[in-house]
Amino acid sequence: MTNIRAQITGVHGYVPDYVLTNKELETIVDTTDEWITSRTGIKQRHILKGENQGTSVIGIEAVKGLLEKTNTNAEDIDLIICATTTPDMTFPATANLIGDAVGAKNAFNYDLQAACSGFIYALITGSQFIETGKYKKVVVVGADKMSSIIDYTDRTTCIIFGDGGGAVLLEPGSPDFGIMDSMLKSDGSGAQHLHMKAGGSRKPASLETIQNREHFVYQEGSAVFKFAVTNMADAAAEVMQRNNLTGDDIAYLVPHQANKRIIDATARRMDVGEEKVMLNIHKYGNTTSGTIPLCLWDYESQLRKGDNLIIAAFGGGFTWGSIWLKWAYDPK
Ligand code: UT7
Repeated sequence: MTNIRAQITGVHGYVPDYVLTNKELETIVDTTDEWITSRTGIKQRHILKGENQGTSVIGIEAVKGLLEKTNTNAEDIDLIICATTTPDMTFPATANLIGDAVGAKNAFNYDLQAACSGFIYALITGSQFIETGKYKKVVVVGADKMSSIIDYTDRTTCIIFGDGGGAVLLEPGSPDFGIMDSMLKSDGSGAQHLHMKAGGSRKPASLETIQNREHFVYQEGSAVFKFAVTNMADAAAEVMQRNNLTGDDIAYLVPHQANKRIIDATARRMDVGEEKVMLNIHKYGNTTSGTIPLCLWDYESQLRKGDNLIIAAFGGGFTWGSIWLKWAYDPK
């Protein structure tokens, strides 16, 4: 173990222009703005429209903005990890498409898939490359075009998800700031409750899978809700307890934005007031791998060097976890 800690030294986000409001959804499926708002906290989500527009479009915009604002030369990037559940193609990796588009000629790039926990998995993976001392600039992207796998005749899922994402730059720094501790968990028995039935190697695309609408998110909402509420809150509490952190020590909870009720339960368990909870689900919905970098991006100007953040996520797999992060810079 070296004395180097991985620090986030910049963040940037991107959401596409088109806004799909609850009001518009009322014209598509049998739902109401009141139901969606009270059950989820979502008012609108952004949708990536147009031919040949994949998740890489979101990642490229986020990384370009990140490089610009951190004054980073693309050729200095060592590695790009893209957390996504909706890659442009099964292969090559979306991270490679992003790397090519931004001119990261010297980087090696790969995708990582852990559904809604993808960004925290990728952040911890990326941080290991920094902490070994071998690499100096790692870009971690979390981006999803969820609209590409959503059935807009299914009111139980189409109201939740949106498109968007963000990227952070990880660099080595002193042990006083950066990623201080984390815990990541998986339970594959949860796959039955949240998955996509076809399009993988088990059931490749066919006329039948298309007719049966099997290329969309399948979610047993209330079962997933119960696991999410318990595990996201438990993960956050565990990371706090083992580092002797109380609610008073925390500047912000940075929760995956799946449902406002899950976020509220996590905040209660951590004993932090709502003024300390990053929230943008009303604007973007659930962007899967994109929610946490989008939160950091939206709140960046309010963060101060030394702020203790607890990041927490839960998603398909099941996957979940939590990170204690000491923010490494003041607003620039
Ligand atoms: O991010 C990855 C992990 N995913 C999550 O964390 C999602 C977790 N789950 C949830 O957020 C919630 O379960 C949902 C938002 C998906 C659903 O909310 P819920 O309070 O669990 O509703 P429910 O599925 O128990 O359904 C309650 C009722 C049902 O009607 P009946 O059977 O009681 O007559 C549904 O048919 O609400 C109905 N319903 C709707 N009504 C209006 C379901 N979707 C809608 C809708 N508009 N869009």
